[in-house]
Amino acid sequence: MRLFVAVDLSDRARERVMRLAQGLRRRLESSAPRARITWVEPENLHLTLKFLGEVDETRVPPLREVLALPLSGPVFTAVLSGTGVFPPGGAPRVIWLGASEGAIALEALHAQVEGRLGPLGFGPEDRAFTAHLTLGRVREAGGAVGPGIRRIVQEAVVEPIHWIVSGVTLYQSQLSPHGPRYVPIAVNSLTSSS
Ligand code: 2AM
Repeated sequence: MRLFVAVDLSDRARERVMRLAQGLRRRLESSAPRARITWVEPENLHLTLKFLGEVDETRVPPLREVLALPLSGPVFTAVLSGTGVFPPGGAPRVIWLGASEGAIALEALHAQVEGRLGPLGFGPEDRAFTAHLTLGRVREAGGAVGPGIRRIVQEAVVEPIHWIVSGVTLYQSQLSPHGPRYVPIAVNSLTSSS
């Protein structure tokens, strides 16, 4: 099964992210009509802490066990306040919303999760962790539209979106021709005091 660990949004933050994504989508559809972008469904919006990839079912119980141990650290506020595109140069592939306040706490949470999963054989990722929420994936930017997409995304004005991060969720990603479905299989909370 395909697994990942993520931080969920509050309902209010999800709604605001959706509205922001809809605005971006409209702007991109009129300015870059040839681009093919798959937008993340509202219920699928999350901030990935660690992607585990395809994992044999026999590895799930120990995974659940280590992820159920109390997480250290208090709940904290995270703020999404800027849009961007990955990779930093060349054809855009991912349209995202980045964390400003709370980014260090999210990094610490990522490190905590990686620290627990390492002994189970899930090594660290090659690239550094950047706290981001994926809004859309560019299937086809097509030559000239690439720079246009980047500019429109980077110029978007974002009213900061706050929410309280209170824990992490282990998700199973079920892929289908209709898009992915993310099913929570374990949840763990941060302690409310430091
Ligand atoms: P991202 O979109 O935030 O970058 C579920 O598929 C989540 O796992 C996605 O939201 C994605 O995070 C992350 N993911 C999917 N495939 C991945 C890969 N090959 N490497 C790293 N993260 C991946």
